[in-house]
Amino acid sequence: MRRKLVAGNWKMYGGLARNRDLLQSLAHAIGKGGKADCAVCVPFPYLAQTQELLKGTAIAWGAQTLSEHAQGAYTGETSAAMLADFGCRYVIVGHSERRSLYGESNETVAAKFVAAVQGGLAPILCLGETLEQREGNVTEQVIAAQLDAVTQVAGMNGFASAVIAYEPVWAIGTGRTATPQQAQEVHAFIRQRMAKSDAALAQRLQILYGGSVKPQNASELFGMADIDGGLIGGASLVAQDFLAICQAAG
Ligand code: PGA
Repeated sequence: MRRKLVAGNWKMYGGLARNRDLLQSLAHAIGKGGKADCAVCVPFPYLAQTQELLKGTAIAWGAQTLSEHAQGAYTGETSAAMLADFGCRYVIVGHSERRSLYGESNETVAAKFVAAVQGGLAPILCLGETLEQREGNVTEQVIAAQLDAVTQVAGMNGFASAVIAYEPVWAIGTGRTATPQQAQEVHAFIRQRMAKSDAALAQRLQILYGGSVKPQNASELFGMADIDGGLIGGASLVAQDFLAICQAAG
């Protein structure tokens, strides 16, 4: 049995006072751990605060992107080692907003994935098709290309501690969730594709679903055979909702 993981993606939301309330609520409710693993991926400036409030609890934390470079003259960028300095365990890589708004190609995403692994972090690699691609029946080709770009560069060993998140772009922040069956189909496709290179690793690999997961739909999604938890955007900003989703994974 794979352990489930529920990871919050705060995106560019938050503030010191609001974060404190949210993190303290989470620490109070699930800080001692539960059946599912739990993590929050916060904006860079709040990593120190998150570390201070979650240190010693069972809740892990991480960032939402990183530089593909280890160090150097890259104004505005943040390296894997810097994230590790603040106790990060996870870093989201290739979120669709990074791909579409900041021009991250499959190759850039692969380089960032490798940088995360080399820095001792667990990348949460996001894959997902647009509505146009789904309606054009090319979902599997799109997911395969996004995935293969990373496996070719990182190798299967690179996935030893990595997590994959399937996030259909049309379901992110739209309130329109993939049905459990739609999500399961793509999750099974991803696992089978990984299994062609390493069956044991594919069996262990946590594949999360992301895209309008809410307390109301979480149990049904997490009940599917190949869905090992969720990457949660909007609902991770409300303690009660995020806790209910963690509960649904337990
Ligand atoms: P959402 O975002 O839960 O608000 O749809 C998910 C994500 O972007 O990771």
